[in-house]
Amino acid sequence: MEAALNPYSPGSGLQPPFLAGREGEIEAFDLVVARTELSRPARSMVLTGLRGVGKTVLLNRLRGIAENHNWLTIRLEGRPGKAGTQEFRKDFARELQIASRRFSALKGKEPVLQFLRTVSSFSAGIGITGISLGVERDPMRGASGSLDIDLRDLVDDVGAAMRSLRKGVAVFIDEMQDLDDETLSAFVTAQHYAGQRELPFFVVGAGLPNLPGRLAEARSYAERLFQYRPIGKLARNDAEESFTVPAGRVGGKFEPSALERLLKASGHYPYFIQEFGSALWEVAIDTPFTGEDAEAAVAAGLRRLDAGFFPSRWDRATPRERDYMNAMAKDGEGPSGTGEIADRLARKATSLGKLRAELVAKGLIYSPEYGQVAFTVPGMADFIERQNLELPNSG
Ligand SMILES: Nc1ncnc2c1ncn2[C@@H]1O[C@H](COP(=O)(O)OP(=O)(O)OP(=O)(O)O)[C@@H](O)[C@H]1O
Ligand SMILES: [Mg+2]
Repeated sequence: MEAALNPYSPGSGLQPPFLAGREGEIEAFDLVVARTELSRPARSMVLTGLRGVGKTVLLNRLRGIAENHNWLTIRLEGRPGKAGTQEFRKDFARELQIASRRFSALKGKEPVLQFLRTVSSFSAGIGITGISLGVERDPMRGASGSLDIDLRDLVDDVGAAMRSLRKGVAVFIDEMQDLDDETLSAFVTAQHYAGQRELPFFVVGAGLPNLPGRLAEARSYAERLFQYRPIGKLARNDAEESFTVPAGRVGGKFEPSALERLLKASGHYPYFIQEFGSALWEVAIDTPFTGEDAEAAVAAGLRRLDAGFFPSRWDRATPRERDYMNAMAKDGEGPSGTGEIADRLARKATSLGKLRAELVAKGLIYSPEYGQVAFTVPGMADFIERQNLELPNSG
């Protein structure tokens, strides 16, 4: 088919041609916005799910909703490690400064003026200069150097200004599980504080399935602070539409056997749908697509996944961590019992704790329940199996 018309979009965070099956989350967020603008309390959201299920594109979509309502919005991404923490704070200050500029024309209003002065002071404290909001800093606000305290000043002043405008402020944080403990607690505390003061400040998070656990560890009340929305593979009809609607717009049709084959290979996972759909478009010469086209597309799509999506995760693991994941792969998609894995590796379960923690920190596995582990990447076990077949001596 004509390559330029390929309607699928495999890739990290790429808006899909058709966002299927996320109406519930979109409606829930619409409601947060609507309630806020009526000065009613609303609970923020946290999206969680495995790799490639569509958390980032959904988070971006929610941000788009807030933007359409002229809210003050910021989008950030958690990054692991000490350097990641520094970068995150800088990004936060920079993005806040940039997003606030839109409101500088309203500085004649007292609460807006105070908000701009506090933001200027906060950003300067973190070392962000060069973006002027055209106001004097307020050195008494947002510049204590403690993120916890400074965030509260921000919530107070930005929140009051937005409330006076009947708008809200929303901080969208992707890969939120990668935030360090202190930053995570500061944002949870800020959200709690905003709720108590009825200020329209929302932290909207997205991350791996271990995120709710990390939030609860940071602050026990986190459980009640957010609406947790697990994002997963698509229901059958949504998966079907993810294949057929984009193709249909440019004249592509499916024979039932082709659609069946692709649905099965994708496991209804959004990333795989895009990859197989895109491969189908490349291998098919004509439409309607046949079962044979689909077979060729699955082979081509898998080759591409095995060259990109999977190794980009696998290659981050050390040899010992790979041994651990190899042992997990025996259980297919899992989950696996940590005791059993230890048996397979002829080790004591307790002696593997550190290795396991490193794999969690790298975002490769998570613990769905006490004493269990599972892959964060759908299809990882099959990938490992395929690799072992190719390299029979690699263990
Ligand atoms: N609802 C959906 N319907 C169809 N395709 C989707 C949907 N959501 C996401 N996709 C597609 O799935 C792929 C992965 O999306 P995205 O990067 O948002 O996933 P993610 O959950 O953030 O993954 P990761 O954990 O690796 O960051 C993209 O190619 C995107 O276009
Ligand atoms: Mg993502």
